[in-house]
Amino acid sequence: MQDRCYHGGAFFEAIGPQFDRLERHQHVINADVLDAWFPPAPRVLETLTAHLPWLLRTSPPTHNEGLIQTIARVRGVPEAGLLAGAGSSDLIFLALREWLRRDSRVLVLDPMYGEYTHLLEKIVTCHVDRLILRRATGFQLDPDELVAAAKHNYDLIILVNPNSPTGRHVPCAELLPALQKIPAPTRIWVDETYVEYAGPGQSLETFAAASANVVVCKSLSKAYALSGARAAYLCGPAALIASLRPLNPPWAVSLPAQVAAVAAVQDPAYYEARWAETRQLRVHLARELGRFPGWDVVPGSANFLLCLLPSTGPTAATVVARCREQNLFLRNAAAMGRSLGSHALRIAVKDAQTNAAIVRGLRLAIGAPIPPEPVAPV
Ligand SMILES: Cc1ncc(COP(=O)(O)O)c(C=O)c1O
Repeated sequence: MQDRCYHGGAFFEAIGPQFDRLERHQHVINADVLDAWFPPAPRVLETLTAHLPWLLRTSPPTHNEGLIQTIARVRGVPEAGLLAGAGSSDLIFLALREWLRRDSRVLVLDPMYGEYTHLLEKIVTCHVDRLILRRATGFQLDPDELVAAAKHNYDLIILVNPNSPTGRHVPCAELLPALQKIPAPTRIWVDETYVEYAGPGQSLETFAAASANVVVCKSLSKAYALSGARAAYLCGPAALIASLRPLNPPWAVSLPAQVAAVAAVQDPAYYEARWAETRQLRVHLARELGRFPGWDVVPGSANFLLCLLPSTGPTAATVVARCREQNLFLRNAAAMGRSLGSHALRIAVKDAQTNAAIVRGLRLAIGAPIPPEPVAPV
């Protein structure tokens, strides 16, 4: 039995996992994980820099009180419906292990972020059904199909929207009416790690807080450039959140992370501009990747792209291994869904210069011809 779920992150081997040569990160492209390509907001960095020695030696507020108050105010949801944790991974493990038993029945998407099936099948060992998202329909979730599948009385339905590794997003206006048709006691978990990249007004937080059975899991890692800090929160009905509160350990979110998260969520202008830039960068990168012969680039809405490589060419595992020799780290998506096969590659969107380096590295790895440099006009 594999005791941990694989998440990429192999790039730390190139940097050095004991952090003795951290400057090496400048020569490594970690497009195997989906961290933001931009830095946290200036006000986050200024606050951390100004108080770092104190932040490092001081015990944080025990249960993230200030972070919860700030999120409640900024997002317009009641404090009673919020619970903060050290990244959404922390909250996923907390909630699912508390709510589910061996005889529970859960519906997940396939493909989908792999930690969920790992936890359900290897740790909780409950029954898992998969709603298969097909290549023929662009891996898009059909809300009507979801409602039909939900009739089988699941204890929990897990959605990731936008989904990983496909990047496909069901707009809030289509998903919300579908979720309203799935009554309690079925609980619905909506993982919105990448929702900000899909455009404004797409989060289901306020709906979840007022619902009887919907919980939104919000990572602050990828959209707020805080993956290293570890901060996230759940937003849902007060009764469901209350069932988890006694299990949320004290001081779980570090003081630097709490301070960073409080500053970040109060700077929408900075982040909205970065998310809009990311959309432009993604469109450009998709166009470049789509020029590789036989590549099918899934039209995702997040800060990454799923590419289906031609079955006659090298597998994703081979391409990943060849790119790795160039310190370019990409993710073989094979294990993220039974429907994906051996030729699915997930690539994070970075800044324009890094995206160009990713395309160059891939060209070498797949042996595609290098187009001539454009001739400068005289
Ligand atoms: C869909 C999804 N959910 C949750 C996570 C975990 O994020 P974190 O623990 O950094 O909040 C990830 C990380 O890649 C993810 O892709």
